[in-house]
Amino acid sequence: MAVKSTRLGILAEENREKRERIIELLEQAYWMEIETVMSYISCSVNPDGLRAQEVREALETDVEEELGHARQFAQRIKELYGVVPGSMAFRATQESLQPPERQTDILHIVRGVIDAESGAIEHYNRLIEETDGVDWATQDMVIAILRDEEAHRRLFEGFLRELEDDGAA
Ligand SMILES: [Fe+2]
Ligand SMILES: [Fe+2]
Repeated sequence: MAVKSTRLGILAEENREKRERIIELLEQAYWMEIETVMSYISCSVNPDGLRAQEVREALETDVEEELGHARQFAQRIKELYGVVPGSMAFRATQESLQPPERQTDILHIVRGVIDAESGAIEHYNRLIEETDGVDWATQDMVIAILRDEEAHRRLFEGFLRELEDDGAA
């Protein structure tokens, strides 16, 4: 139970509403990471062709990182007196990361990854703003995760540039 004291910051009883709002955003972040793990597993296995290897390897590494993010979000939900949701509450949204018709269509995957990373970056920026001055520990955690997503996006922007330069579009 939350203890009644302003000294307890986000864990204080009077901050219940703020805490519940943050938990909602953390749950959304948790599901985004879980879906990204699913999508990146398929995208790190399906692609064929000469261009596929770099993308596959990058996504294999990302799967582990995104799983690590999901774990951090889950842990933080619990620390804020929330309950990590069960799988029945999951709803998929990553349309742009569904397997392409041709498994040599690397551009489709690179664009899908950039899309997913952009969505994460947007949501985490929002979480950072919502926790500002209210929940420093969540904010600190999300800032570190945001940096990972920015790095992922940057890497895939480079892949996109090369593919477009080569006229693969
Ligand atoms: Fe992530
Ligand atoms: Fe990412």
